[in-house]
Amino acid sequence: FEEQLALPADFLWGGAISANQSEGAYRADGKGLSTVDVIPHGSNRLKVKLGLEENLALDPEAYYPSHEAIDFYHTYKSDIKLMAEMGFKVFRTSIAWTRIFPKGDEAAPNQKGLEFYRSVFEECRKYDIEPLVTLCHFDTPMHLVDTIGSWRSREMINHFVNYAKTCFEAFDGLVKYWLTFNEINILLHSPFSGAGLVFKPGENHDLVKYQAAHHVLVASSLATKLAHEINPENQIGCMLAGGDFYPETCHPEDVWVALNKDRENLFFIDVQVRGYYPRYTKRLFREKKIDLKTEAADFEILKHTVDFVSFSYYASRCASHQMTQSSEANVVKSLPNPYLEKSDWGWAIDPLGLRITMNTLYDRYQKPLFLVENGLGAKDTVDKDGQVQDDYRIAYLRDHIKAMKEAIADGVELLGYTTWSAIDLVSASTGEMSKRYGFIYVDKDDTNQGTLKRIKKKSFAWYKQVIASHGEDL
Ligand code: BG6
Repeated sequence: FEEQLALPADFLWGGAISANQSEGAYRADGKGLSTVDVIPHGSNRLKVKLGLEENLALDPEAYYPSHEAIDFYHTYKSDIKLMAEMGFKVFRTSIAWTRIFPKGDEAAPNQKGLEFYRSVFEECRKYDIEPLVTLCHFDTPMHLVDTIGSWRSREMINHFVNYAKTCFEAFDGLVKYWLTFNEINILLHSPFSGAGLVFKPGENHDLVKYQAAHHVLVASSLATKLAHEINPENQIGCMLAGGDFYPETCHPEDVWVALNKDRENLFFIDVQVRGYYPRYTKRLFREKKIDLKTEAADFEILKHTVDFVSFSYYASRCASHQMTQSSEANVVKSLPNPYLEKSDWGWAIDPLGLRITMNTLYDRYQKPLFLVENGLGAKDTVDKDGQVQDDYRIAYLRDHIKAMKEAIADGVELLGYTTWSAIDLVSASTGEMSKRYGFIYVDKDDTNQGTLKRIKKKSFAWYKQVIASHGEDL
């Protein structure tokens, strides 16, 4: 029991970023356009993300934050050095699909793309940092959106699996921990970012989304199967945008709504962990008039389940049977919770919610968890001495790490913790730079101005000490 109370000795401490929010260099060395590259900063952003904008041509007047981001494509060596200085044991990033297959359907990969990521992962290994790599983090090739409607089409399965196989082979020995799709459930809430879906007038959106989800799930299972065949040491995870729904009151109808809101998100993980569709989907699909096109072989493929369950946690959520008001927490609609403080962007702050979510996930799946995103988006300022005193971020992370340790003591198995984010980067929801999450400040503003200079924030030294003390010195 004593052992269970403590953090495992090989616990992986670190931080996370994604390719599209950090790399920039959006056409360098043959890279193709991806969905995120056509999502502008500003008023039209939400419409595009929701799949409601049919004209996706780049507008020369608009600002697209992914095009330069924080230029990690050129600064990765010095940035990874800073992460090593903090003592990172793991660094989570993603591969941009369109660096490896610029259009998504080529016969052969782009060597320059493979060379770039080889160099990134070698850089990690140089400092004994374990790379944790997401294959698709909100960046589907635009060519596949334009030509086959992205994940509406079954053909996507082959394109993705070919891409995944190329990566597993190319980085065998360098990368062991893989995630197939970032926040897979976001497909339902932000369908263009999640799966490159653009709706046609009059369509049944639910049908399009769940059909795409089916293809994504089959592709994920096939990739998992391949990863295990290529190297049995490979560890493959699913990735959930987590945060349990609380019923707003103990009114049974509120409880029922909250249960179903959780199911909506957990549906994906239910399939990826158990290897089959949960029974509740029969009724759900009937009521939403969803008649999925499937093949018998799909249900054999789905049996290739993941090794661990990774998830992001920013906030708990709240639901009632009279959802009148709504606030946004990570694009999943939620009611404001009057018992909780909020971030500058209105996201609830709920460390106990992390403990609750971890216990829910572990009770449901009995698989090791990996907390791969957790952090505070806040407005940081550089003071007259050139310092960033982000005590609020330290407080947020401290409380969440305490809650995480409580969950471990409750009996939850947790492989590691990667904060969002290791370094400031572009916000996925708003496209802002001013919504900062990192331990390292990047000099850039919301209008694409700045020197891109890096500054270690106060939280940098704090996190270094957290890792060095194995989570004791908080
Ligand atoms: C998760 C994503 O949704 O939350 C990240 O996986 C994202 O890509 C993070 O950046 C924080 O959200 P946001 O919108 O504040 O950047």
